[in-house]
Amino acid sequence: MTTDRPKVRITEVGPRDGLQNESVRIPTATKIQFVDQLSAAGFPEIEVTSFVSAKWVPQLGDASEVMRGITRRTGTIYSALVPNERGLEDALEACVDKVSVFVSATEGFSTRNTNGSVDEVLARIAPVVSRAKATGKPVRGYVSCIIRCPYDGPVDPAQVVAVCARLLEMGVDEIDLGDTIGVADADSISRLYQAIARIIEPSKTTLHLHDTHGQAITCALRALEIGVRSFDSSVAGLGGCPYAPGSAGNVATETLARAMVSAGFDTNIDIQRVSDAGLWMRQQLALSRAASS
Ligand code: HMG
Ligand code: MG
Repeated sequence: MTTDRPKVRITEVGPRDGLQNESVRIPTATKIQFVDQLSAAGFPEIEVTSFVSAKWVPQLGDASEVMRGITRRTGTIYSALVPNERGLEDALEACVDKVSVFVSATEGFSTRNTNGSVDEVLARIAPVVSRAKATGKPVRGYVSCIIRCPYDGPVDPAQVVAVCARLLEMGVDEIDLGDTIGVADADSISRLYQAIARIIEPSKTTLHLHDTHGQAITCALRALEIGVRSFDSSVAGLGGCPYAPGSAGNVATETLARAMVSAGFDTNIDIQRVSDAGLWMRQQLALSRAASS
């Protein structure tokens, strides 16, 4: 139902961030069915998978099959993570709608997650951004560890601003700020956005919250006050990053969407369908775990 209330955009990242950390094998057909159920809930964007090395993230080694197998709904953008030119090649062949490059604000996570320094990773993704844009694909630029790095500790907002500036210079269409290990609180979100707002309007960023300490909704509400209107979340709070020890899943989509509605905003997603998809996926994960034990 569309109303004249102000809108908040929710990108569902469960099929990618939610599943990348699962150690049991999830059948490709299950992933496809999962994305199709999420599509039916009306998301403006679903992050379907990652075209990363299967040696690094074995769970998403079927990225091409999943991207090709889903049923696309008009009005939903089907995006994927892309770490390098090889990944872009595969993503374009599989007809990705939007490309998400990713880089850390910190050296420790950059090395562990992408086998390169921050500068090396920026140099690696620069041709990905230019080629994606030349082929007409919008680009999201993720910056991880916006508050704290699991290897380097607390992060100065100036570090985040510096990496965002490099991504904007490259021409990314959207900056996505990742609290990778879910340690933000409302005050650290305010401090970060005070710094970020010098180079980009908060309304042009997306906030990607993990919910390790139950603070994600408080952070999202503070971000709303600051002017942020785009968030990532994962149905049923699935997920975590295999290279960020201690990271919990993303903020649950159902909880985030309800909080947005209570705050007077519309998300235009069907929360009942989202809940059903989350329940179904949790059952599939339980079945996969039982089959592997
Ligand atoms: P590398 O080992 O330095 O790469 O990894 P390489 O170029 O030396 O290649 C090694 C092997 O991987 C080669 O195979 C390549 O062909 C293959 P071999 O010759 O040994 O058989 N390879 C690929 N295969 C498929 N697709 C590709 C690809 N690239 C190389 N695209 C690399 C560098 C970046 C590839 C690796 O470190 C990697 O894939 N890392 C991804 C890690 C990852 O996905 N982490 C989780 C996502 S990030 C995240 O969760 C944070 C986020 O949610 C935001 C937040 O919460 O903050 C986004
Ligand atoms: Mg994440």
